[in-house]
Amino acid sequence: MRFFLDTASVTEIREAASMGILDGVTTNPSLVAKEKKDFRQLLAEICAVTTGPVSAEVTAVTCPEMLAEGRSLAKIAPNIVVKIPLIKEGIKACKTLHDEGIATNVTLCFSANQALLAARAGATYISPFIGRLDDISTDGMQLIRDIRTIYDNYSFPTQILVASIRHPIHVLDAAKIGADVATMPFKVFDQMIAHPLTDAGLKKFLDDWKASQK
Ligand code: E4P
Repeated sequence: MRFFLDTASVTEIREAASMGILDGVTTNPSLVAKEKKDFRQLLAEICAVTTGPVSAEVTAVTCPEMLAEGRSLAKIAPNIVVKIPLIKEGIKACKTLHDEGIATNVTLCFSANQALLAARAGATYISPFIGRLDDISTDGMQLIRDIRTIYDNYSFPTQILVASIRHPIHVLDAAKIGADVATMPFKVFDQMIAHPLTDAGLKKFLDDWKASQK
């Protein structure tokens, strides 16, 4: 499983990248808005920190405008992935960008049928939002299972990028299902590493070591 950071904060991306296990970044308009920076400059900065795929979302909602925006975003750096909302116009734009060789991440996926359509349109990544489904009392992880089954049935190359991750158990369950990528907030990275028994065990080892050196 590959790990992406779901943020537009260069500081967070640098810190996660320093661990050596960061595979890419996903952004969305809400995350970008928080940074209060020029969008294109921010993307260039992020692409300089990581060589992995960096999802940059279009804000247009018609196919011709999505295509213009997507083509322009793709020119910022070779690792830009154009993020497109899962609406009719988005599926059209995804197919065209795929035919042009531009990588896409089809976002705001909430059903297996939507994921099937995105795969047929040649999406590089599909982003099912599991946390937002959990929020409305729907099992987000079941969607990941369904998409995995469907994509495997037909050998679709579209990668399942689990999004809207809220806690480490989401990552664990998605890994058990065989999702390709998990994109998570920086906080979840930290939570995955932390364990009180590791901290207590390390303290005891070091205390015993120091005592033996006196
Ligand atoms: C994915 O690409 C989205 O940016 C993100 O995971 C949405 O997460 P949220 O539901 O926590 O806003």
